[in-house]
Amino acid sequence: MTGPELAEAGRLLAAARRPVVFTGAGMSAESGVPTFRDAQTGLWQRYDPQELATPAAFRADPALVWGWYEARRHGVLRARPNPGHRAVAAIQARLPETVVITQNVDDLHERGGVPAPVRLHGSLFAPRCSACARPAPVLSDLPPPSDPPEPHDGPLDPPACGGCGAPVRPGVVWFGEALPSAALDAAVEAASGCDLLLTVGTSALVHPAAEIPLVAAGLGAPVVQVNPVPTPLDAICAVNLRGPAGEMLPALVRAAWPDADAG
Ligand code: APR
Repeated sequence: MTGPELAEAGRLLAAARRPVVFTGAGMSAESGVPTFRDAQTGLWQRYDPQELATPAAFRADPALVWGWYEARRHGVLRARPNPGHRAVAAIQARLPETVVITQNVDDLHERGGVPAPVRLHGSLFAPRCSACARPAPVLSDLPPPSDPPEPHDGPLDPPACGGCGAPVRPGVVWFGEALPSAALDAAVEAASGCDLLLTVGTSALVHPAAEIPLVAAGLGAPVVQVNPVPTPLDAICAVNLRGPAGEMLPALVRAAWPDADAG
């Protein structure tokens, strides 16, 4: 993609000193990690979130829920950061005050070169006790390969907490649960002080996370969106880059800094 939109977005990025990069599931789509709401491929098209992503679902059937999250974790372990993740790291390397805020529970930002993104919805790699919240060890790595490879998403009994013996739960934020307050505070603070917000691969439908770009826009920071399709954020964006993150973000880095290695 070339053209005026990319040039304008590049100009805004080059002029920024305290950008925020706010990401959603689309950021990892090209790494083979399914999004939630994309037609056919989205997880919520194939699974009922009420059956798998709520505290009540875990109480009702811990093995079903744990098995499903372990399958997602294995899928992420097989995935690799895409050029979009590396471009975000290149932005942070160029502008050290960049704050990366993610709704994603995969670890592809870290593997792509961003050491400490602000995690609004937790992580697949931070299990904890469902009763005493004691952190639990991340279990096995990938199961041994089988031929043909069988996705391991059947029920799996969660391990017991080493402290109180209660079932261990995935370290993600489920529907109906509050976001981790430290992460939310850090995200609001960063959005309030940024001079550019780049929103990448989110449908902006899930609150309160979806309010982060609105905080920045409300305080006068330009917002640039990367998404192949329109979202509710279109109206507040200075530029809408219509395309996949893995292509748009490296192109944006090159537009801002023609000499830069986009990662
Ligand atoms: N590059 C950029 N954007 C993409 C790409 C891509 N390659 N592929 C898809 N998208 C866009 C889609 O058009 C969609 O707007 O990414 C967005 C993904 O939206 P969702 O699936 O709704 O994911 P997200 O916005 O991250 O969901 C928010 O909802 O289910 C909960 O906790 C979960 O964190 C998640 C939250």
